[in-house]
Amino acid sequence: MIEASHLCKNYPIKNHNNPFRKDRQLRCAVDDISFTVSPGELVGYIGPNGAGKSTTIKMLTGILLPDGGMVRVDGIDPFYQRKQNCRKIGVLFGQRSQLWWHLRLDDTYRLLKHLYEIPDEQYRKRLSVLREMLELDSFWDQPVRQLSLGQRMRGELAAALLHSPSYLYLDEPTVGMDVLVKERIRELLKELNRQDGVTILLTTHDLEDVERLCSRVMVINHGKLLYDGTMAQLRSRCTADATVTIDIQGEPTIIDGLRNFRQKGNQITFSLNRRLGEGQLLAQIVGCNHVRDITIQEPPIEEVVRDLYQRSGEEEQR
Ligand SMILES: Nc1ncnc2c1ncn2[C@@H]1O[C@H](COP(=O)(O)OP(=O)(O)OP(=O)(O)O)[C@@H](O)[C@H]1O
Ligand SMILES: [Mg+2]
Repeated sequence: MIEASHLCKNYPIKNHNNPFRKDRQLRCAVDDISFTVSPGELVGYIGPNGAGKSTTIKMLTGILLPDGGMVRVDGIDPFYQRKQNCRKIGVLFGQRSQLWWHLRLDDTYRLLKHLYEIPDEQYRKRLSVLREMLELDSFWDQPVRQLSLGQRMRGELAAALLHSPSYLYLDEPTVGMDVLVKERIRELLKELNRQDGVTILLTTHDLEDVERLCSRVMVINHGKLLYDGTMAQLRSRCTADATVTIDIQGEPTIIDGLRNFRQKGNQITFSLNRRLGEGQLLAQIVGCNHVRDITIQEPPIEEVVRDLYQRSGEEEQR
């Protein structure tokens, strides 16, 4: 289990006019965040640029020491019990490489085998599975510096998974990948989670990743946790409009108050916002017409999340 309780992290801001001043200002990157992630969960961690996502991941993985609060992964302190923690976790930072630039993938993995003390047989089996799943064969013999971004990321993911970690932290793993590679990575993550029970915390700006993979999502902005729950609940909090289309038998009877109303023959379309209490309009129009078919198109996830970021930004300003 991952437990984070009242986590805080501040970064010093340099005073460029006088770098020797002792009373340096601090930028609060993570501000009193608490959550737990149970074994086997696949959780999305999203937020706008500079929200504090990578800083959180760095504290969870033991790269950074929190300024306040505590982190435990299966009871282990990731910073002070770094070696024990490293055996349990796999980490991928999309923006940074953990592969050796001038080595071939094969050589890198052999180095990791020794670092993690993976037994020969286990190493051979694991590597052949990852090699096949991530389709590494076509660039197996090239040095890492010659790989394309998508190829390198597949190599990175194999490196993060080589020692069969129970916890996987992914910080923007699909950045810069084409749709086919993204799809393959998503399938792999699903499989790791479902079949092997790997607990995954996934940071991404690609909301499709979250929609397709995560039952739970945490949203952070300005270092504060804004939301922690299911995607469905997140949608229901959204103030963006849904679009309703109704096929009516005979001439439609229209009521007042429908926004963005359009009519095309027997089909009518209008906007609906449950948070504005417009659900009853739908009940009324259904009540006074002979409805053949009805579709409600929820706002796209991008709009739901944009709405949440905007509202949190406004609250912060106030
Ligand atoms: N090493 C550092 N020194 C000073 N400030 C930092 C440092 N690393 C991050 N920050 C600041 O902390 C805040 C949070 O950064 P963080 O990298 O955690 O954001 P993020 O949510 O991962 O953003 P992105 O989506 O752009 O990757 C930002 O304001 C950033 O400028
Ligand atoms: Mg980041």
